[in-house]
Amino acid sequence: MDMDNESISYSAPGKIILFGEHAVVYGYAAIAIAVELRAKCTIVPSLSKNPSILTPDLFPNKSFTINKDTSLPSSLRAIEFVIREMLPSKKRTQYPRIEITSEIPPSAGLGSSAAVAVSLISSLHAFLNINSNLDEINRMAFEAEKIIHGSPSGIDNTISTFGGGIYYENEVKRKILIDDKSCFFVIVNSLIPRNTKDVVEKVKQRRDKNKQEIDQIYEEIQSISTQGEMSLKKGDHERIGTLMSENQNLLEKLGVGHPELTKIIRLVDKHDALGRKLTGAGEGGCIVALFDDYQKTQQAINTLKEKGFQAFITNISSEGVRNETEHV
Ligand code: MEV
Repeated sequence: MDMDNESISYSAPGKIILFGEHAVVYGYAAIAIAVELRAKCTIVPSLSKNPSILTPDLFPNKSFTINKDTSLPSSLRAIEFVIREMLPSKKRTQYPRIEITSEIPPSAGLGSSAAVAVSLISSLHAFLNINSNLDEINRMAFEAEKIIHGSPSGIDNTISTFGGGIYYENEVKRKILIDDKSCFFVIVNSLIPRNTKDVVEKVKQRRDKNKQEIDQIYEEIQSISTQGEMSLKKGDHERIGTLMSENQNLLEKLGVGHPELTKIIRLVDKHDALGRKLTGAGEGGCIVALFDDYQKTQQAINTLKEKGFQAFITNISSEGVRNETEHV
């Protein structure tokens, strides 16, 4: 790499799952959309003897050194895995001083861990002068996701790497153009944190006990994702909304609802949302609601905020991972 101490910076987006969470873990289809909330990784080459990592959102004013004798706190396990994989111990003239920040609320179903992994891997590729290839970044981010989530579907790292909208089935994706000019996707955070790995494991146990019933739910979700792709292509907002609400009923049957999510659903329904559902693993986290009227959207957001929830219109991020390095 250049020896001019220039910093390197990449960002990657979070996501919402519009249709198909949980079913996607078992190879069924899902649709995800990247949102303009980003994790950012900045690397400054340093003369210190080891890589170091700062995550001011999680550990303010604390820097961790990565060497053979220490291990990082468990919340930084995936980050540590990526750094150790990509920087095998050999003598270097410079080591990366890595800083990661994120606008994506963690443990909320918005793909924060995948976005962190994608931005970190891209920055390390640049630091190591490896010609970045999106498929390679995505593959490595999938490995990092496995460290945190056990057996993830791979949809979070894929949407964060490539951006836009994707239809995803069995680790294969195709792009979908999403129009958010004439409709509004509102994210409502219940502020109930949950752990994706635990929720996915609970659903697995339910399926182990009752495979036929759960697979029937997954078949119905598959059909929603297929119809959802067509409705998104047509820009049929009414239908997209209806499918979202149907997907929510199936997620509740799967047992991943939460009383706070039900409260949010009642509120957005009162404000004429076209549809709404949880997004991500459920049992807390966020609801995504679709509106086609700006005034009603704003009124809904005000009501939700008054009730103590975080609520905002989200912009779709057509870009996945993005080079943010400023050349001076
Ligand atoms: C992903 O954000 C949510 C789940 O579908 C898990 C996965 O796909 O790995 C529940």
